[in-house]
Amino acid sequence: MKTLIRALPKAELHLHIEGTLEPKLMFRLAEKNSVNIPYDTVEEVERAYQFTSLQSFLDIYYKGAHVLITEEDFFDLTWAYLLKCKAQHIVHTEIMFDPQTHTQRGITFQTVVAGITRALEAGKEELRISSFLIMSFLRHLSQEDAFTTLAEALPFKEQILAIGLDSSELGNPPSKFEEVFKAAKQHGFKLVAHAGEEGDSSYIWEAIRLLNVDRIDHGIRCDEDRTLLDYLVNRQIPLTVCPLSNVSLHTVKDLAHHNILKLLNRGLLVTVNSDDPAYFGGYLNENLEALSEGLDMQASELRHLVKNSFKASFLKEEEKETFYQKIDTIYKALLPSESITSPGIYPNS
Ligand code: HPA
Ligand code: ZN
Repeated sequence: MKTLIRALPKAELHLHIEGTLEPKLMFRLAEKNSVNIPYDTVEEVERAYQFTSLQSFLDIYYKGAHVLITEEDFFDLTWAYLLKCKAQHIVHTEIMFDPQTHTQRGITFQTVVAGITRALEAGKEELRISSFLIMSFLRHLSQEDAFTTLAEALPFKEQILAIGLDSSELGNPPSKFEEVFKAAKQHGFKLVAHAGEEGDSSYIWEAIRLLNVDRIDHGIRCDEDRTLLDYLVNRQIPLTVCPLSNVSLHTVKDLAHHNILKLLNRGLLVTVNSDDPAYFGGYLNENLEALSEGLDMQASELRHLVKNSFKASFLKEEEKETFYQKIDTIYKALLPSESITSPGIYPNS
């Protein structure tokens, strides 16, 4: 399975660029920029990264982001992730960034976007990795703040494809951002939102009905509501699931109790993603390997999940088709005895 996981071309659709800040880079930037961080050694960092909930993670994650000051810092952060993509054979990525985490501390919107997009452009040229950028609103802040951030993003519309919603979910339901999502849609942005990570299935309904999202980030609590499950199957609304994140933040007891393969086999358009890999113990391939070990994922399920990562992306249909074919060719070459008629992409093939 490890060979197959590595060999298949993959897309990643749920990745916070601030969540790829590895301790080594955090230490280097802290020193360069004279920013205080509450750790001196990697061991101290590892001890601090024992989370008990989403909020316990966010508190540490926002502190880590304080070391990012210059455009070069955002470039270095993004470039390091793209090199990881290359090593893991991720050929397309749709990355999120949280501008408010930075503008609140006096870093300009332009600095953040310029550093990230310069790395993404270099990634296209030098590494052949395609990418889109998703700007997320912090949901613990007000809708008014989100409107200010949307206005700041408008001059960068060429660089930003979609709008998202992240941070502390409980008590900050999608309904709080109905108006700003409506405005974002009118400006032509694609829409995604975190929902059903810690929040219950009503948050997922709200993201669909009130925010009109194209995709749900996480969404694993959909299994509380059969009507919602049927709806997600019928409409093929994608869920970008992050298994190692869910275990780290105790939204799922352990991988053996994760519902991702049940959702997949029920016909939902689920994908696997790493969320904040520097904090949750692994990038995309480690998430897939963990599913193979913890849930006894089969090769045909892996193929289905990897195809879904393209199906749920914002790529054009013809680009998706090219990747489906590449996946099938590599799958057949590595597993010649496996039937390719096993579920490929629901509801076809
Ligand atoms: N949930 C909410 N907000 C986040 C996350 C997450 O998993 N990662 C980074 N910000
Ligand atoms: Zn996330």
